[in-house]
Formats: sequence, structure tokens, C-alpha cells
Amino acid sequence: MAFPITRLRRLRRSESLRSLVRETRLTPESLVYPMFVCPGEGVRKEVRSMPGIFNLSVDEAVQEARQAHALGVPGIILFGLPETKDEVATGAWASDGIVQQAARAIKHEVPEVLLMGDVCLCEYMSHGHCGIVRAAPQSLGAAVAAPPAAATEYEIVNDATLELLARTSVSLARAGIDIIAPSDMMDGRVAAIRKALDQASFANTPILSYAAKFASGFYGPFREAADSAPQFGDRRSYQMDPANVREAMREIELDLEEGADMIMIKPALPYLDVIAAARERFDAPLAAYQVSGEYAMIEAAARNNWIDRDRVMMESLLSIRRAGASIILTYFAKDAARLLA
Ligand code: PBG
Repeated sequence: MAFPITRLRRLRRSESLRSLVRETRLTPESLVYPMFVCPGEGVRKEVRSMPGIFNLSVDEAVQEARQAHALGVPGIILFGLPETKDEVATGAWASDGIVQQAARAIKHEVPEVLLMGDVCLCEYMSHGHCGIVRAAPQSLGAAVAAPPAAATEYEIVNDATLELLARTSVSLARAGIDIIAPSDMMDGRVAAIRKALDQASFANTPILSYAAKFASGFYGPFREAADSAPQFGDRRSYQMDPANVREAMREIELDLEEGADMIMIKPALPYLDVIAAARERFDAPLAAYQVSGEYAMIEAAARNNWIDRDRVMMESLLSIRRAGASIILTYFAKDAARLLA
């Protein structure tokens, strides 16, 4: 007897049929565009490893924000390159910090933009770590201002860092940032930030926590763009081990308990399984960050004519959506919105 063939190809015969039965759709409304703000005026300096992405002075950042908004991208996340760096990340929380200046200017010129502030200290610390550094107990035990010489002799101090993160968050909220997005991976930061925001009468400012942020090689180009590479050691003592999905669920659970309104997985493409597991388990809005290295890989291959840039860009974004992220932070935001228009 002939085996009856199930004809799934019936629904693939035309674009209108395929569109009718399409399970996942991309929309510009869910995209967030990252921007790097630097001192100066009229500065538009392309990041070597991220073609099409620039370090922008405040005036240029306003233009870029206006353009993103006109294309239908609702959100922008700001990163800062401060004038100077020190051991207490002054540039992160100073009221005239570079992100604070950019936030005020963008809110003034393009008030409809949903502004997110990345809360982390690495861009503002002379040593490039995301927290306060001190000599490890086995060497000295004392807190030191200057980073120790050898990579094995330091530790990132958790609880003292929380105070700086809270201070940074309040400062950003005061400058007009709509959503506070901590990306430092210190324990207890969401609770500390929530409390500080509430006390400063920002009870209505939501927290989007980078809940599961992995210690990833895919951040390479970002560290060039934001000048934030650690001067010694690496971030493995605070960012997550790439091997762990169950631990990611614990990170998310804790951040939600501490008061996170939305959660994020980062990077995106190499961690689609983590996104899917989080979607299954948690009901809070879920974001994913398609990071600098993911962008750079696609751009580099496209520049060699090895792949079709637009096609791969849209496919990668769709896959992040299909895995379960409703919000996508991506350097492709403007280009994708253009194609979706
Ligand atoms: C700050 C921060 C980083 C990224 C976002 N926030 C860098 C890092 O953790 O080293 C990476 C984003 C990207 O690669 O696009 N800690």
C-alpha cells in the first residue's frame, strides 16, 4: 500500500499563503537602538569593528535619535564615553555626565523617544571593570584605590558597588532616562536600584534588568566602541558562565523578586535556548540583546559578499523573536525598521 504523503508544501506555494500561516512577525515597535555618546561637538566617529555605528557627540546623538524615531524605532539605549575615568566611576553618576547630557538633549528635542540608560561602571572606571576593585584578601585585605598589578590579586567588591549603581540610576532618572537597565551583574543590584529610585520619587521608573548576561567573547567590538575593556583580568567572576542555562533561570527569578519589571538575555543568537527557556518559565516582558559581535560578524561576512546582509539581518532578528523575546536591542534597529516599513 502506498504511504499517504502529508503535503505541507501546499501552504508554501505563494508569498500570500506563506504570510497567512506565518507564526512569528517582526515589527519595528519592538526594536531598541544602542547609541554611544562622546564629548565634543559635531563628532561622528565610526567604530572600526562596527561599520555603520558611530561615537556621537551630544548634538549628533540628537540627530541620530530623531532619525531612529522617524523610522519607527521607539527605544534608544545610551552608552557613554566620559571625558575622564577614575576608580569610583564619577562619570557614571555625575549630574553633568555624558549620558546625562545626552538624555537631557534628546528628551528636549525628541521627547517621544523611550530612553533607556545602561547602568554599568566599566566605561567610567580607569581599570575597566564593572565594579569597585580591591586587592584580594589573600594579598592585602585592604581596599585600595589603584588597581593591583597582577590579575590574580584583585576582586570586584559586590556590596560597595551597589551604592554607585544606585547613585547612577537616580542620576539617570533625573536626567530624563525613562527605563533603567542595569548590566553590571552584581548580586542584589535590582533591589538596591529599586529602593534608591523609590526614595528619590522615581517609583514609576521601570527597571529592565540584564538578568542573564553571559561572559561573552561577542562583546569585543562594544569594548572598542565604548572604550571599556578591562585593563587586567576578565569579567568571569561576575558575568555568567556560557555553559549555564539553569543558573540563568535563577538569575532571572532573583531579579524579578527584587523588583525588575522586564528582564533581558544577552547575547542573543548564541543563547536562543536561554531565551526560549525564560519565555516558557516567566511572564515578565522579555528582551534580548543582539550584541556588537553578532552585528560585526554579519557585517564582515556581508562586506566579503559571503552572505546577503539584509536577509541574514532579518533572519537573525526573526529567530530571536521566535525564541521568545518580545523586545530586541540591536545595532540593526534602523536598517530593520527601514525594511519593515
Ligand atoms: C556594560 C555593557 C557591555 C555591553 C552592554 N553593556 C559590555 C561588557 O559587559 O563588557 C555589551 C554590548 C555589546 O557587545 O553590544 N557592562
